[in-house]
Amino acid sequence: MDSKKKITENYKKKIESLKKHNSLYFDKDKPEITDSEYDTLKKEINATEKKYNFLKKLNLNKNIIGSPPSNKFKKINHLKPMLSLSNAFDKKDMLDFLKKINNFLNLKDNDIELYCEPKIDGISATLIYEKGILTKGLSRGDGVVGEDILENLKTISNIPQKIQSKNIPNLIEIRCEVFISKKNFSSMKASFANPRNAAGGSLRQKNPKETAKIPLTYFAYGFGAIEPMTFSKQSEFLKKINEWGFNINELSKNINGIEEIENQHKKINDLRSSLDYDIDGLVFKVNDLNLQKRLGNTSNSPRWATAYKFSAEKAVTKIKDIIIQVGRTGAITPVAKVEPVTVGGVVVSNATLHNEDEILRKDIRVGDTIQIQRAGDVIPQVVSVDISKRNNKSKSFMFPTKCLCGAETKKEFSKSTKKLDAVRRCLKGYECKFTAKEKLKHIVSKEALNVEGLGKKVIDQFWDLKLINEPSDIFNLNYEKINKLDGWGNLSIKNLKNAIDRSKKINLDKFIYSIGIRHIGQENAKILAQFFISIKEFSKLFNLNYRKTILKNLVDLDGIGETQIDSINSFFSNKINIKITQDLIKTLNIEDHIIKLVGGKFSNKKIMFTGGFQNMSRSEAKSIAENNGGKVLGSISKKLDYLVVGDSKPTKKKIDQAKILNIKVISESDWNKMLNS
Ligand code: IVH
Repeated sequence: MDSKKKITENYKKKIESLKKHNSLYFDKDKPEITDSEYDTLKKEINATEKKYNFLKKLNLNKNIIGSPPSNKFKKINHLKPMLSLSNAFDKKDMLDFLKKINNFLNLKDNDIELYCEPKIDGISATLIYEKGILTKGLSRGDGVVGEDILENLKTISNIPQKIQSKNIPNLIEIRCEVFISKKNFSSMKASFANPRNAAGGSLRQKNPKETAKIPLTYFAYGFGAIEPMTFSKQSEFLKKINEWGFNINELSKNINGIEEIENQHKKINDLRSSLDYDIDGLVFKVNDLNLQKRLGNTSNSPRWATAYKFSAEKAVTKIKDIIIQVGRTGAITPVAKVEPVTVGGVVVSNATLHNEDEILRKDIRVGDTIQIQRAGDVIPQVVSVDISKRNNKSKSFMFPTKCLCGAETKKEFSKSTKKLDAVRRCLKGYECKFTAKEKLKHIVSKEALNVEGLGKKVIDQFWDLKLINEPSDIFNLNYEKINKLDGWGNLSIKNLKNAIDRSKKINLDKFIYSIGIRHIGQENAKILAQFFISIKEFSKLFNLNYRKTILKNLVDLDGIGETQIDSINSFFSNKINIKITQDLIKTLNIEDHIIKLVGGKFSNKKIMFTGGFQNMSRSEAKSIAENNGGKVLGSISKKLDYLVVGDSKPTKKKIDQAKILNIKVISESDWNKMLNS
């Protein structure tokens, strides 16, 4: 029998250990043990106390075992969303970027001035100054809501807490990238995988004193809200804030045209390893802020900027096998299983082969020696095959015509390209268990229901254990069974339950995106949500008669074409899809789409464009109409208020139809007058 002294000693050790791990978990965001190990420790302490009553009297356990705070930092809405950047990987992508800008702005020549800055690989933050005083400091969060990390940001000595200048806007929001220099990182290599993680870990410390211990610094690169706006160029803005005391990157410069873009890219890439901070590309921005405003944003990124990434890291390896994967739309993707190789610091054992045509074109075979590349976060790709190393017994790869579920696959005819698709598909939907599992992964993903902690691997695990067979099972999980699984403890289960509960409240557009109708991405889901407004109206699609009428009306929506309409029809012609959607509707709390009443000269007006304009592109005309409260339709209907007719090649039939329906027809010059009035 253990002596009382020994039992007490052991117990005290466990309490100390619990305190340490609590602090690592809650304060430092850096747990050293798994959730289940943590749970075991707690269980052991409770069991010992139960067995030896005298331990309880020591009162050591009190106030330690609390539940985790659900939110470490206060959440604050950004004044303007913090978007991300589109990526370019080569000269062609950059030419595309320039072309899109020129098309949107309807410019004839190509000499738009760009401002080029290194893309710092750190953590973004935004600093809000009211009357020159730093009053808020937020992390990016999800881009719309950030976390209040002001006290931590204040520990960065070269971030001004007061702007010492007379002529400053009442409100100015400075966007910056916080990082750790390579030199400083070298002494903390043991604790963090790379400088970026170290900077993130430091910035998210609960205790600012911990942040202060890690030498963070920053470069300012942009702005959010500015009132009143006094700048007209990105370069001018950076120069000014530099005079006010903010750090800006010295390698930034004005650039014109593709040749200069390529030269700068090469020049900075050559310098890259000699810099004392990590960069992963160059950001090219339209320098003129008025043009930036005209160009505006797509849903996730500005049209006026792109990140030209440094060249993909490459490596040579061998194909061990070629397997087939089934995607959520039934797409059959061949994947090369390769001998593990490190590409840019990450061990790679799979590379995508895209589709059947790609395998044929490159004549890729099992056993081949190949070069692979990893660009950004995308799945590694096969660049080339070294035929000289090929075994003469090797055979061409025969692409299977059946899905993993046994069903025949098909290449569909695309109405938009008028060609046969390159991709083979299994058309069984939820009846194919491989497709079904991928659909589940889509439903829980960040852009859909956003169930934190229910990632792809967990779905795989729960699916294999038959804990989840269809989407509504997510909300009826057998937690007793999960509790018994390796890696799952009370804490992680509690977190999962909370995340699942949170995900039940969802906007209509996200719901429409979640159910995974082919060709209905995030943008189209928003357009549909604007049309249906409520889940009740959307549910009318389940009924064949209603559906026919609704689909006819959808033709009016700009952005929704024949492909989307056919796809919605075929989705709801399938009984299983309807049942799965209905089950989800029963469980979820789907909020009506709120139409933001944008005031302006076209408030609540429905507008359609035909023909090309002299002064602006169709895309810009559309964006102006929407920014002024208008709604742009894609076809003539009674609901239309204006048909705006551009001078270049308008469709006569549309003008005639509009006249018959008594719709106001507006010429290009009238349109320009309306804009300037
Ligand atoms: S401009 C609307 N400029 O890259 C987004 N971003 O992928 C405008 N970044 O969240 C971003 N250096 O954290 C811009 N010179 C630079 C940057 C930069 C690093 C980061 C930033 C942003 C992310 C976008």
